[in-house]
Amino acid sequence: MASLNIFSSSLAVALLPSPSLFPSNHKPRAARYTPHSASKTSLRLANGHRRGNSELRWKPSSTSPTATLQVVALVNPKSLKVMISGAPASGKGTQCELIKEKYGLVHISAGDLLREEIAAGTENGRQAKEFMEKGMLVPNEIVVTMVKERLLQPDAEKHGWLLDGYPRSLSQAMALENLSIQPDIFIVLDVSDEILVERVVGRRLDPVTGRIYHLKYSPPENEEVATRLTQRFDDTEEKVKLRLQTHYQNVESVLSIYEAVTFKVNGNAPKEDVFAQIDKALSSVIDKATEIDSSSAAGMAQ
Ligand code: AP5
Repeated sequence: MASLNIFSSSLAVALLPSPSLFPSNHKPRAARYTPHSASKTSLRLANGHRRGNSELRWKPSSTSPTATLQVVALVNPKSLKVMISGAPASGKGTQCELIKEKYGLVHISAGDLLREEIAAGTENGRQAKEFMEKGMLVPNEIVVTMVKERLLQPDAEKHGWLLDGYPRSLSQAMALENLSIQPDIFIVLDVSDEILVERVVGRRLDPVTGRIYHLKYSPPENEEVATRLTQRFDDTEEKVKLRLQTHYQNVESVLSIYEAVTFKVNGNAPKEDVFAQIDKALSSVIDKATEIDSSSAAGMAQ
């Protein structure tokens, strides 16, 4: 069970151990908030950036277990910023459907944006497809601007965003850092390779609703849906192995950027159980932000 440990000081720190990685009696060590500034309205972040008082971030503890979301970061609860990462077919899209439904965030999937370019027959789409067919990352010249422009749209700014499959390399993460675009939480779905291959091969998509199905784990509800399902061009056993290789070449460098806000989830479990873990983590991030906002408001009123 994930638990929440709160320090008794006026600024509290929450830890969320991954249920899959810790026994139920595990007592996580807490990261203590380390103010770098006496200012009430601006605090220095772990990475050296500064943020306003609605965007507090905690300095990570070097002694905390790596499998925890070390801290609850920032947050204006109205505009939660979430990144979700994981190997091909780890369940990112599936979890995004559930997160979006509950939290109303704008789902931005780098893979979907690229497939839209392909479907529209653009030059970017034509070039992207060549790389996608080889299981390689599409070059930054195409992807970085595409994602950045989508992130900066008013709906994402207003409702918060859920960034799926981006960044996937150190250079993409740095491009976001340079724009001061940072997540409140970086969710990592941890799934074994054998399961990934099975999920890829059995995945089907509904072109009408955009819903993701799996022939075994998430079959279509009726015959009408079943007959119109399609398969992605890169969803073969051969191609997923190439995509996995690309994933493992890049994943560590991306994780290193978001270590302080990383929340690892056991993605081998059924999708409802995976979502329960994520839901708990997101709720904690929001609760903590609300608590911080209330404390700030009370402090200012005095
Ligand atoms: P992208 O479209 O992002 O593909 P991916 O990362 O390989 O991930 P998938 O979409 O395949 O899987 P998913 O994790 O969303 O799993 P899903 O929920 O569908 O990228 C495609 C390509 O575009 C890349 O290879 C690259 O070329 C390019 N690209 C993308 N981003 C890029 C970037 N940033 N830079 C450069 N190039 C980029 O689930 C899979 C299946 O499993 C489904 O059938 C589902 O029903 C089932 N399932 C899900 N969860 C569970 C569960 N818990 N239990 C049982 N079944 C489950």
